[in-house]
Amino acid sequence: MEQQSLLKTSGESQLYCGDCLSILDMVPDDGVDLIYIDPPFYSQRSYETIWGGEAERFAFEDRWAGGINHYVNYLVARVRKMYSKLKDTGSFYVHLDWHISHYMKQELDKIFGYGNFQTEIVWRRTSAHVDTIGFGHVTDSIFFYSKSDRFTWNPQYRPYSEEHLSRSYRHKDPVTGRRFMLADLTGAGIRHGETGRVWHGINPSKWTRHWIRPPSELEKLDKEGVIYWPDRGGMPRLKKFLSPKGQPIDNIWTDIPPVSSQGAEKLGYPTQKPIALLERIVNASSKRGDLVLDAYCGCGTTLAAAQKLNRRWIGIDISQSAIRVVEQRLKKLGATDYQVHGLVKTARDLRALDPFEFQNWAINAVYGQHSPRKVADMGIDGFTFMEHHPIQVKQSEHVGRPVIDAFAGVLQREKEKKGMIIAFDFSSGAVDEVARLEREDKIKIQLVKCVDLIAGNVPFKIMV
Ligand SMILES: C[S@@+](CC[C@H](N)C(=O)[O-])C[C@H]1O[C@@H](n2cnc3c(N)ncnc32)[C@H](O)[C@@H]1O
Repeated sequence: MEQQSLLKTSGESQLYCGDCLSILDMVPDDGVDLIYIDPPFYSQRSYETIWGGEAERFAFEDRWAGGINHYVNYLVARVRKMYSKLKDTGSFYVHLDWHISHYMKQELDKIFGYGNFQTEIVWRRTSAHVDTIGFGHVTDSIFFYSKSDRFTWNPQYRPYSEEHLSRSYRHKDPVTGRRFMLADLTGAGIRHGETGRVWHGINPSKWTRHWIRPPSELEKLDKEGVIYWPDRGGMPRLKKFLSPKGQPIDNIWTDIPPVSSQGAEKLGYPTQKPIALLERIVNASSKRGDLVLDAYCGCGTTLAAAQKLNRRWIGIDISQSAIRVVEQRLKKLGATDYQVHGLVKTARDLRALDPFEFQNWAINAVYGQHSPRKVADMGIDGFTFMEHHPIQVKQSEHVGRPVIDAFAGVLQREKEKKGMIIAFDFSSGAVDEVARLEREDKIKIQLVKCVDLIAGNVPFKIMV
């Protein structure tokens, strides 16, 4: 598997399988226009199950006491790198939910600068959520930061709803027929300058107010037909005409439904986001030909949006199966102008890897953390994603009973009751020994075959 600069072949988009922490090193600094990330929450795909109800929530909190800091550090290390990849005019969006968003906001402010926080988009991701107690959680937060105040920005609009039109735009201009709403021509407080003057016999100070513009400018607006004079006299108002572009989009997004289980868009990837969400972000914060990066690309929603909107892109995902889904998706879109890196397709590919690369691949495949010591690791090559149970990786064909016993010794030394061994295959003696250890010593060792990881069958339960 080659390791090359992701933008060596300029113009082509790049899809990479691996941990974004290391892959990002290949992306040139100050080269990316827009980054969107939707990182996994603690428990990856079992997320929905774990957070299904209140009882589960308490169970989770017991289990993960102290876990939030661990997760925040994990993400901060990666976001810091992403920050260095952004152009000065670039923007960064991170999709989070209520479990973690407030913890991350503080860290993001430190990385981007408080003044570069643009907004929190609140996306209504589901219409109903039956929580046993309290108000249902139906939204996600997407924090939007820029790298400077010179960021690319294209305002986005949506069609006015009938309800909004009839509630707010009740007036019609008798000459042009254009609909308008009424807005104040005065602001609170007395002013002694121009804006406090009497205009058309009306003294705003009488109501402890002042004009929003000097009378000379109001006169101009009146000539342009933008001032509304009530039939029965009283305060004039400002006509705010309906924009032909539609209603400017604010930070509450309720008009993009989630990917439905029956919908044509559904690819079967558990955390797939709707393409309309990403199209809005890509349209707002990048231009044709710009470079868009998603370092947790999943089934490639950001990449598909960028491809459709004629942007170049870099997609990174640690999961081999995610990258395969992305390839299928891009094929359907007719995309050919991209390269794929880091995909292990067969057990033969795996056997050809040198031991360190093999170990990296295996730990990444279960979303684990690499052992800080690459040599003299005392039998531990990595740790499971959240609970930090030891993982041992063996690039051997038949792992037998002696390996299991040696690893059980490692677990006992570390005062651990759980662990994982990843290898090509396990002998029946090894399988029996694992059963015995669980029965007699309450030590639980999960045996994971490479062939299952290649197929994307990741043992999520132990990973959490
Ligand atoms: C919530 S999903 C993203 C879903 C995506 N937005 C979509 O619409 O399909 C998170 C993704 O991050 C990937 N992932 C987890 N850890 C990673 C890492 N260290 N580097 C890169 N990708 C990672 C997972 O495999 C998963 O596909």
